[in-house]
Amino acid sequence: METKSKKQTTAKQTTKAGVTKPKSNAASGLTELFEDGLKDIYWAEKALTKAIPLMAKNATSPELIDALTSHLTETEEQIARLEQVFESIGKKASAKKCDAMEGLIEEGKGILEETEPGVVRDAGIIAAAQKIEHYEIATYGTLRQFAETLGLTDAAALLELTLDEEKGADKKLTEVAVAAINIEAAEEDEN
Ligand SMILES: [Fe+2]
Ligand SMILES: [Fe+2]
Repeated sequence: METKSKKQTTAKQTTKAGVTKPKSNAASGLTELFEDGLKDIYWAEKALTKAIPLMAKNATSPELIDALTSHLTETEEQIARLEQVFESIGKKASAKKCDAMEGLIEEGKGILEETEPGVVRDAGIIAAAQKIEHYEIATYGTLRQFAETLGLTDAAALLELTLDEEKGADKKLTEVAVAAINIEAAEEDEN
């Protein structure tokens, strides 16, 4: 009976103009939405293990290189932690392409092409890296909340650990930018 009424609601919604018709495998419950989100961020973190070294290679400020390098180590740990999250809900870890992270990484690569190496490129790298961190903060914040709502306390605790690391990485990047890079990059304008 319940399935029938759910189907009826979906059918009614899709007939409305402007309402996207769901795919046949669309999530029908919060658990599925949570698992889809995990697969997305698992893909994103793996992609970042290639993108962060590229950013570090292109950076010149030692503080920035240090911030990126230490976050690469954290990112590798976050991948292992996500595998623990999958395990805690009895699922095999699997990745699904995250369009948003792919776009953010592409934008970061574009910034490299558009800037001279030095303080200006460093400022661009920080901007791109912070957009990535903010995306991750939003994602882990949501996933932790989903886990809590679903009563998945182990998963929620693991996701909170990563959320705190992402916030820390973002804060560190702000500090690097404020301390030197943006000021020096602005001075480049005056020369
Ligand atoms: Fe991450
Ligand atoms: Fe991150």
